[in-house]
Amino acid sequence: MAATAIIGTQWGDEGKGKVVDLLAARADMVVRYHGGNNAGHTLVVNGEKTVLNLIPSGVLHPGKVCVLGAGMVIDPQVLVREITALRTRGYLAEDRWLRVSEQAHLIMPYHRAIDHARERLREAGAIGTTGRGIGPAYEDKMARTGIRVGDLFDEEGFTEALARNLREKNGYLEALLGEPPLAIDDILTEYRGFRDQLAPFVADTGAEVRAAVARGARVLLEGAQGALLDIDHGTYPFVTSSSCVPGAAAAGAGLPPRMLGRIIGIAKAYTTRVGGGPFPTELRDALGDRLRADGDEYGATTGRPRRCGWFDAVVVRHAVALSGLDALALTKLDVLTGIDPLRVCLAYEIDGRRVDQPPTTQHAWARATPIYEEMPGWQEDLGEARTLDELPLAARRYIDKLSALVEAPVALVSIGAGREQTIRVGELF
Ligand code: IMP
Repeated sequence: MAATAIIGTQWGDEGKGKVVDLLAARADMVVRYHGGNNAGHTLVVNGEKTVLNLIPSGVLHPGKVCVLGAGMVIDPQVLVREITALRTRGYLAEDRWLRVSEQAHLIMPYHRAIDHARERLREAGAIGTTGRGIGPAYEDKMARTGIRVGDLFDEEGFTEALARNLREKNGYLEALLGEPPLAIDDILTEYRGFRDQLAPFVADTGAEVRAAVARGARVLLEGAQGALLDIDHGTYPFVTSSSCVPGAAAAGAGLPPRMLGRIIGIAKAYTTRVGGGPFPTELRDALGDRLRADGDEYGATTGRPRRCGWFDAVVVRHAVALSGLDALALTKLDVLTGIDPLRVCLAYEIDGRRVDQPPTTQHAWARATPIYEEMPGWQEDLGEARTLDELPLAARRYIDKLSALVEAPVALVSIGAGREQTIRVGELF
């Protein structure tokens, strides 16, 4: 038995939360391995909406062990808030159902302050980060000055590291970013409180995840963001600060790559992105507004309106190739109902040449224009379909077309937010 990884194949927000929630019903353990509360999953269970930013969506299935792995950056304030909110709704009844890696890095108040101030100063060139301090926390991790969850339990070491970091961060905040300095005592008091609240969950999660896989438990690795937001393979610099492809899943979870088995990609039936950066198939017109309204395309984390556009097969094919996907879950097909004709981007034209791969430089991305194929749309409501046969012919042809273009079999189609609004085509997990 090996772990199954789920990844986003576009710019995030593909609907991973719903798919992980569905697959979690058959999992014993669900692990997040990178990113932080820049991610957000909106889940609808029994008509009730739950937004999760850090804890894997598996938490809505009692008894599943949810793990925040070593590759994550964790804002303890957000984690404590999420635990409290889940508990007041009757979830997470037992402490052992949540495990938080001692090795995950902590997001500190100066990370958030730096993220915000830098974005403000970048003005038109802003990345459009979620403002959660993700980039600055990963910078410290790589600079080897980060503070980790396990450090919370070494009072003296934590105080020393914080004092050292604050000297540097306050200098940077004041002199270069024009921000007020932060007071050490406030942070110490606040983080002592988080330490006490998180203590029951903190563990060597790598060892626990490896042991679970070794004993044959069903382990799901839940990716955040998407392949095009990957720090190396995405639309750099308009990316997040972690690696979003399955190559990083094993390391972030603490697993040897041999323990990774199936890899499942999630793609939305159209494309969205939040923040700045290239988006060749973006619709800056009434149709884009319609996709936003019908698809409720507002960030689960920040509430920002998402940019919307046609399905881009160049992007998803790239993600499929990078990730070695076994199967694709296609989400939000229902949102396309009533749009006729539909368009699908097959390739780009750059300087008069047709290219099938995404560009690797900003300069080339800026000149990429989509080459489209038109397809007939459908008018029927899809929400009640439970098999492919119950979909209109045009919808089935659309699915087949996408699958052929991105070179991956479609194993699940989501046609609404509810758990039951799902068509299972093949075995996913
Ligand atoms: P950061 O991860 O907050 O630094 O943001 C960097 C870029 O990634 C911005 O364009 C964000 O909007 C985008 N981003 C980060 N996390 C997500 C996500 O979970 N879904 C969609 N976009 C995201």
